[in-house]
Amino acid sequence: MSSTDPAATRDRQDAGDFTDLFKVVEDAAGPQQVTAAQHIFEQQRSRFPQATGEFSWLLSGLTLAGKMVAAEVRRAGLVDILGSAGQVNVQGEEQQKLDVFANRALLHCLGHRGNVGIMASEENDDPLILLKDPERGKYIVVFDPLDGSSNIDVNVSVGTIFSILRREETNPDNPADDVLQPGDRQIAAGYVVYGSSTMLVYTTGNGVHGFTLDPSIGAFVLSHPSIRMPERGNLYSVNEANADSFPEYCRRYLHGLKSGRDGTVYSSRYIGSLVADFHRTLLKGGIFLYPPTAQYAGGKLRLLYEANPIAMLAEQAGGKATDGEQRILAIQPTELHQRTPLMVGSHYEMDLLHECAELSKPRG
Ligand code: AHG
Ligand code: MN
Ligand code: MN
Repeated sequence: MSSTDPAATRDRQDAGDFTDLFKVVEDAAGPQQVTAAQHIFEQQRSRFPQATGEFSWLLSGLTLAGKMVAAEVRRAGLVDILGSAGQVNVQGEEQQKLDVFANRALLHCLGHRGNVGIMASEENDDPLILLKDPERGKYIVVFDPLDGSSNIDVNVSVGTIFSILRREETNPDNPADDVLQPGDRQIAAGYVVYGSSTMLVYTTGNGVHGFTLDPSIGAFVLSHPSIRMPERGNLYSVNEANADSFPEYCRRYLHGLKSGRDGTVYSSRYIGSLVADFHRTLLKGGIFLYPPTAQYAGGKLRLLYEANPIAMLAEQAGGKATDGEQRILAIQPTELHQRTPLMVGSHYEMDLLHECAELSKPRG
């Protein structure tokens, strides 16, 4: 709690708590918009007074990359027009497919932070080792640079997903193995959704916060503080074209939702961009499922840079995320690009799903 005693204020500031200072500024300047940079910095300061600011600096690399991708997504429809003369744009640069562009933007923005030891991307077969010394390169960032890229040509929302880990056990012979940590060890996770507006949603384990990009000032502004996923929703989201090969319990579950047995009339929504489908689920509640299918017997979505960050956000917002049996965040990964089934959503719909799964198990 703040007190007006100047000595106490000084002590708190020495310990890294600048709450009083921020209050003085606010009183003088009036209420201002809170930017993502400010929010990240203040959260770190108040929760970890000894923090060096390095982690905030790392996160600002992600917001910068998000803005670069947002700008490129906004002109996606113009690429063919601008690039018609041999795929070279008016600046004389070669046109990039958006997922290549997004990957490069992230690698560039994060690679220059000076504290990222390892980066791993959906677009690269192997992790990129930047700093072998774990003392210097103490963070690992894993990302899906452009999620839902098949939607880009038809002007439908896409996103960027990221997960940040601390480098804990270093295997000097194979530092790439440091990436293989269960999701419970993430220290931050989030996404940027390039939709009707561009939004950043992130967590550092202290709730989920959403920011909308204000293009007039080029900053992400706090628009959705402390997001809570509704306890229950009325939407389910799944690629039903695959339903014939879903596990029996998923088919029965979906049938149950559609029958309106529990008094709720459900509607279905499926965009085909995980980020966009999850963003809706986070704000409106309900459930998103990508169960095992005939084509993807182990699920389609990637554990490390799709399911894990989404699961951390879901749990931090009061929801649940599993592979149908166990918490996503408890899974010990064995490969960078490994896939998993993903079921994520509100408490009510998730509990119902697990009841169905239990009932379908052979007795005895
Ligand atoms: P990506 O574009 O990064 O490869 O991810 C696509 C993923 C995910 O965004 C989405 O939930 C899923 O693929 C959709 O798959 P289906 O087309 O099989 O439904
Ligand atoms: Mn993806
Ligand atoms: Mn992708």
